[in-house]
Amino acid sequence: MPQKTSSKLKNFMKKIKLPKFGKKPKRRIVPTPPPKPVPRGLKVIERYPLYEPFAHVAIVQNPKTGEYKYMLDELQLDPLEQGIYNRVLDILLSEIESPKQEIEDPRKFFATEAREIVDKYRISLGWLPDVSWYKILYHAERDLVGFGRIDPLMRDPNIEDISCDGIKKPVYIWHRKHESIETNLVFYEDSELDNTVVKLVHMAGKHVSSAFPIVDASLPGKHRLAVCYRREITPFGTAFTIRKFREDPYSIIDLINLGTFSEEMAAYFWICLENRASIMILGGTAAGKTTALNALACLIKPGSKIITIEETAELNLSHENWVSLIARRSYGLGENQTGEVTLFDLVKTSMRHRPDVLVVGEIRGNEAYVMFQAMATGHGGMSTMHAEDIDSAVKRLTQKPMDIAPAYIPLMNIVLSVQRVHKKVEDETKAFRRVMEVNEVANYEDYRRMFKWKAAEDIYQSSFNDSVMFPYVSERTGVSRNSLQKEFDQRRNVLHWMREQNIRSYKGVAAIIAEYYARPEEFYEKASIGEIETLATARHT
Ligand SMILES: Nc1ncnc2c1ncn2[C@@H]1O[C@H](COP(=O)(O)OP(=O)(O)OP(=O)(O)O)[C@@H](O)[C@H]1O
Ligand SMILES: [Mg+2]
Repeated sequence: MPQKTSSKLKNFMKKIKLPKFGKKPKRRIVPTPPPKPVPRGLKVIERYPLYEPFAHVAIVQNPKTGEYKYMLDELQLDPLEQGIYNRVLDILLSEIESPKQEIEDPRKFFATEAREIVDKYRISLGWLPDVSWYKILYHAERDLVGFGRIDPLMRDPNIEDISCDGIKKPVYIWHRKHESIETNLVFYEDSELDNTVVKLVHMAGKHVSSAFPIVDASLPGKHRLAVCYRREITPFGTAFTIRKFREDPYSIIDLINLGTFSEEMAAYFWICLENRASIMILGGTAAGKTTALNALACLIKPGSKIITIEETAELNLSHENWVSLIARRSYGLGENQTGEVTLFDLVKTSMRHRPDVLVVGEIRGNEAYVMFQAMATGHGGMSTMHAEDIDSAVKRLTQKPMDIAPAYIPLMNIVLSVQRVHKKVEDETKAFRRVMEVNEVANYEDYRRMFKWKAAEDIYQSSFNDSVMFPYVSERTGVSRNSLQKEFDQRRNVLHWMREQNIRSYKGVAAIIAEYYARPEEFYEKASIGEIETLATARHT
């Protein structure tokens, strides 16, 4: 829905009384613009602002086909504004100086600087109403320090993934409510799409070119970017996918509230992780493997030395004693792969840093071999793997390139598989993530099922009769099975209590877990009689 600065918009801007441009606004103005007309015949399912007053979205449905579409409604520049905008960009590029010290929010820095510079030049640039200057500054910020045309999509917390398959094709998103839907955002020219992607790659501090057309990188804000550049390998033109990082990552409490884990299951993992069990998370693409890994890793005892190894930085732990290692691609060609640092190298080197727990974001290749070696020498290990269930995972693990000897398979103590499932809620089919099964690996091809998801009732059925972990923990710690059961129940209650108290942010949850580890009995007593003043700050944070 392209839009010009129409008289309607001017009236609207007058109505909301934006401050005169020369003066600094006293407070942030968040006006609501009038709703945009949606093309005829489409039903509006919902509308919400992305960045007021500049960008909004309407989710519409075609009643004939039932298809949803994501209609981005962003204020556009008219030709006059566009001309001035081009000159403003030149001025900003030559006048804005790099910040003297490290700044927390580059966009805020840019907005302040840009405003001052534009104020200085606005008379010589020609007269424009204040409304137009706001728009020009919005577009300058979006294009220079933001994510360009996809910037408004990056502001939408409902979007999980953004993907562009090439030019003249709609950009697709994965919406938390409506799943995979088409947007009205299209890149028409190769040059525009290529420039956007080069800029994104540069924002991630990486290089992309026809010689190196494949890039995996981590954008500012930890969003995961995957690029195939130009027509080297993608005949429709540059393609990219962004997995958006949640600013507020899911904690284990969030995952229990979402029904992905049960309290009992989380308590089970908590006990096992404390006792250095190694855990493998299985699932398909976007099943929620990394999210589950991150949430579970937060149950590791604070103070434990954790080394995480990833291809692009996605994990976010609250532990102080945490080293994050990220693989590096080589920019050599052919046989000459100088400077490359692979996952294999990182797992190998991590052993010299004496980790208590080694977390490998995803295992795919020969790094699995070193990881199992590490687990064989008593290090705890956590990882994810692309596989539907334990049988296919073990098959992959024991074949090339991973090549794990069957005798090593039980070093992976617990295997859980996550899946995206569909469920009817009030006549609507919605997508949810569920842990399908949790199995303990007693031996090669001897798996003991601890939890199973029952689809009909949407509950988890548990059975610990065959557990090998509980007798092992009991033996290792000298704690009787009864005491271990008591500890298990206690932890489940702590998790339940956190849910009741609405302690859900990953930092808040980590604070409680740390407190429980430090003084379990005192904490438990306090929690059960509701006198936890020291924890007040952790609540609702
Ligand atoms: N339990 C959950 N409930 C709701 N949304 C979830 C859940 N787990 C993950 N998500 C969302 O699903 C998306 C994919 O999650 P995640 O990155 O963890 O998947 P993945 O299995 O690691 O994917 P990939 O195979 O691409 O690495 C993210 O946007 C995340 O916020
Ligand atoms: Mg992942």
